[in-house]
Amino acid sequence: MKPKVYITRKVPIDLLKELKAVCEVDVWEHDDIPVPRHVLEEKIVDIDGLFCLLTETIDQSLLDKANSLKIISNMAVGYNNIDIEAAHKRGITVTNTPGILTETTADLTFALLMATSRRLVESAEYLKKGEWKTWSPMQLTGQDVYGATLGIIGMGRIGEALVRRAKGFDMTCIYYNRSRKPQTEKELGVAYAELDDILKGADFICILTPYTNETKNLIGERELSLMKSTSILINTARGGIVDEIALYEALSTNKIWAAGLDVFEEEPVDPTHPLLSLPNVVAIPHIGSATVNTRRKMAELAIENLLLGVTNQTPKSVVI
Ligand code: NAP
Ligand code: GLV
Repeated sequence: MKPKVYITRKVPIDLLKELKAVCEVDVWEHDDIPVPRHVLEEKIVDIDGLFCLLTETIDQSLLDKANSLKIISNMAVGYNNIDIEAAHKRGITVTNTPGILTETTADLTFALLMATSRRLVESAEYLKKGEWKTWSPMQLTGQDVYGATLGIIGMGRIGEALVRRAKGFDMTCIYYNRSRKPQTEKELGVAYAELDDILKGADFICILTPYTNETKNLIGERELSLMKSTSILINTARGGIVDEIALYEALSTNKIWAAGLDVFEEEPVDPTHPLLSLPNVVAIPHIGSATVNTRRKMAELAIENLLLGVTNQTPKSVVI
């Protein structure tokens, strides 16, 4: 009997060819609606493999319904949507898609840094609304990127890729990480600093840690109060790492200059969310890895992991 797999969103059809030759493949076909929980609860009962996205919460109560599940293949590098401990306790392998999205996500992070510092979205709106009456010396002035200090919180794959971009802008790079990275310091010319010193000293703070119990609300009222009034916060990691109420307060009272946000505590973010009403916020819908090439590569790797998992082979990128 062929192994059964469930795929929780449409993926490019050509990528499923090999999988379909080996497995019985069932797909949630709606591109714009996540699979409802009750459907997932039904499907999980007798499948051998699950291909899911960061929009699916894979928790204990769901896993309790799985009778034959061997592998959960997440099409994302972040896996905070999955209860890893609960999966491992049940002998289920979890995989993610690290590495292949690193450069694309670093590009987007740098794009947010540029957009916020030079007020790109605000300026484009100003022009479209017909508010551009003349050129004047201090009109729509922003903050310099070239030569500024970049503070990275979470010096992993994407953090390092961001440093490489920043070096082209002659930026001084400092970082805070759970563990120190002497090799990275030497190779990329970055300096380690304590979190508070990064917050006090950097012109740009980029959050690039995973979302865990330790990083939940890592940046709250106290941390934001340490930042300079000209500083910019960029979050392309996960929403819950920054306290959104405190961030709104800091931005709306100009305690910090601006924020670039690709991720939110609740996604999709409510369009009436107070943060979205602020001119100094550039908000985008979790598109860090969203290029055609990268998303295809992520889907390919996630399918490969799924296939290896259901055929009792070792998948390529196992979460441990
Ligand atoms: P990574 O290589 O694992 O890097 C994460 C870094 O964060 C590691 O260096 C890790 O330190 C550090 N870290 C972990 N917990 C920490 C803590 N409590 N305090 C300080 N540092 C801590 O991951 P990555 O590939 O760069 O991705 C980072 C995150 O970005 C992902 O987990 C995901 O949530 C997010 N992401 C978002 C998008 C998007 O579309 N917006 C796309 C890709 C990724 P250690 O070396 O000590 O483990
Ligand atoms: C996207 O957010 C990812 O974790 O890959």
